[in-house]
Amino acid sequence: MAVDVQSILEMALEKGRNVLYEGKVASYIPELAKADSSNLGVCLMKKDGTIYKAGDYNIPFTMQSISKTFSLILALQTAGYDKVFSKIGMEPTGDRFDSILQLELKDWRPFNPMINAGAIVTASCVETEDPFGSFLELVRKVCNNPRISLNEEVYQSEKRTGTRNRSIAFLLKSDNVLDGEPEDILDIYFRMCSVMVTAKDLARYGMVLSNHGIDPDTGEQLIDPTIVRIVTTLMMLCGMYDESGEYAVKVGLPSKSGVGGGIVAISRKGVGIGTFGPMLNKKGNSVGGEKILQVLSRELGLHVFDLATF
Ligand code: DON
Repeated sequence: MAVDVQSILEMALEKGRNVLYEGKVASYIPELAKADSSNLGVCLMKKDGTIYKAGDYNIPFTMQSISKTFSLILALQTAGYDKVFSKIGMEPTGDRFDSILQLELKDWRPFNPMINAGAIVTASCVETEDPFGSFLELVRKVCNNPRISLNEEVYQSEKRTGTRNRSIAFLLKSDNVLDGEPEDILDIYFRMCSVMVTAKDLARYGMVLSNHGIDPDTGEQLIDPTIVRIVTTLMMLCGMYDESGEYAVKVGLPSKSGVGGGIVAISRKGVGIGTFGPMLNKKGNSVGGEKILQVLSRELGLHVFDLATF
């Protein structure tokens, strides 16, 4: 019997709506506190061009930490594996995304590229004339959306208030992990976090990653498959911060969240999913988005350790 993906998506959206009350919108970046707490949407895209969508799949929001995956791709493309992983590790931390703890306790290198410390070092590894310009170009190409752009208000808001990220950057500088001026690197990092996407854009990103980096519409290899493998593995291990383990058990898809409310999830065989819901749990992950992905994973048999049924 054919699976009715659209009905399952709508049912998952309803289940997501039922848990929104458990969350709060991010407020540590003042501009993010203006988010509409009732927003919730999902988009699932297949490489053959089929698109399923429900709710607020087309509302733009800032990608925040989802940018960490794009900057890692760019750093690996421009500086290469050896340089990037001489400065950043590959291990989950179990700590908050903006934690400073492990930098002093264990190693001078950030544990992984998905926490803030790691992403700030990743941004410093992008070896192009204009790192933010290259970042935007990559995002637009992968999402097949030339209108994707910076949210100036969120960028300014984060730049004005990002004291914790400043502390991390200066600590990294003092330990000689960061090349260049901390303020310049932070500026690139803040800009990357403030680029606006929709759940539909994220679904396309997930679909391209699932398709081993190939744009199915043009046949162009946008991202090298070895880079895709590195990025998706790190998403599986650390993409949902200190909730990555529980999320892996319940959803079981390489995913990355951001405090703007987005989650990108990668399934098998050219299927990508994007969700948006700015109500966040205590770990900084979208409560509605997580619920939607949990339902989709269960109903469509998407968990990486399930036998594929979809
Ligand atoms: O560094 C920050 O605070 C943000 N721009 C990004 C953090 C983020 O998205 C964490 N997410 N769950």
